[in-house]
Amino acid sequence: MLMKKVWMWVLVATLALSTIACSTTSGVKANYIGISMPTKSSERWVRDGENMVKAFKRLGYKTDLQYAEDVVENQVSQIENMIAKGVDLLVIAPIYGETLSEVLKLADEQGIEVISYDRLIMNSPHISYYATFDNYQVGVLQGKYIEERLGLKEGKGPCNIELFAGSPDDNNAPFFFEGALSVLQPYINKGQLVVKSGQTDFNQVATLRWDGEVAQKRMDDLLSAHYSTETVDAVLSPYDGISIGVISSLRGVGYERGKMPVITGQDAELASIKSILAGYQTQTVFKDTRRLAEQAVNMAEAILKGEKPEINDTSTYDNGVKVVPSYLLPPVSVDRSNYEEILIDSGYYLRRDLK
Ligand code: GAL
Repeated sequence: MLMKKVWMWVLVATLALSTIACSTTSGVKANYIGISMPTKSSERWVRDGENMVKAFKRLGYKTDLQYAEDVVENQVSQIENMIAKGVDLLVIAPIYGETLSEVLKLADEQGIEVISYDRLIMNSPHISYYATFDNYQVGVLQGKYIEERLGLKEGKGPCNIELFAGSPDDNNAPFFFEGALSVLQPYINKGQLVVKSGQTDFNQVATLRWDGEVAQKRMDDLLSAHYSTETVDAVLSPYDGISIGVISSLRGVGYERGKMPVITGQDAELASIKSILAGYQTQTVFKDTRRLAEQAVNMAEAILKGEKPEINDTSTYDNGVKVVPSYLLPPVSVDRSNYEEILIDSGYYLRRDLK
């Protein structure tokens, strides 16, 4: 009797072991994520990358994080490498949205799904989801800030404004620009806002690769051609790195604190928050990269578990081949009056960072 029982336990134990062995060989856990970011030259992408690596690690994933230093070929070969190393999923913020079609075909052939991060990857069907901010709203916040500071609603003006837009190869750039012009264009039409240079088309005001030096050079040209006797009252800048270039140019011809135009921005980069506190830049748009990273990580985890990620937009982001299901986070306007509440109280920056 006893012998019979022992044999039964041996049988049960052997069966259990073989089941465990089966489930590990057939269901190897997908746990390797490739993260491709555009450049380290902007502080935000560094934070985005670090935040994602931390969050993926917490959930037990390995990561390969690469920065392409704004060179398209680097990004393509870094992604090829990630595919060769056997990543299970890719999170990509493209440098130039149109250049990844071939490499993503390769990813698709290996069954690797792709999340587009902050910027939309264009002209490829092989993108599962898009995690970003409400990009049009970013522009609306910049436009509204100028409207308010110049008192345009109250009928003030005419005021001189110059417009800057982001990189023409980044799908976000026209969203920011159109959002801002949705507020500013009626005032330009009425003559309350005057663009002395006459440069109001996206292509005339775009800044390749969001480069602050390119913006500085354009601002130098605008100042010498159109503002030898007039003053600039506002500059629509879509991004902090561009604002820094514009401010250098203005200071170069004698604009100083107390006399600066209203200058917008985006990303709440440390240098720009310091500039706002010192009285040069006026505003920026804060996009909490901690939340964006978390959103992308949650999406990735859902995809790898075969579940449906949370999305809140299924109509805005057409990449030329498909409308990519997206999750849009809310941007927040920041200036001297609310930076403490938004950036310090939330722990995004420490007070001592701003010294
Ligand atoms: C955009 C992004 C902005 C800013 C800009 C320059 O795509 O949405 O937040 O970072 O690139 O890096």
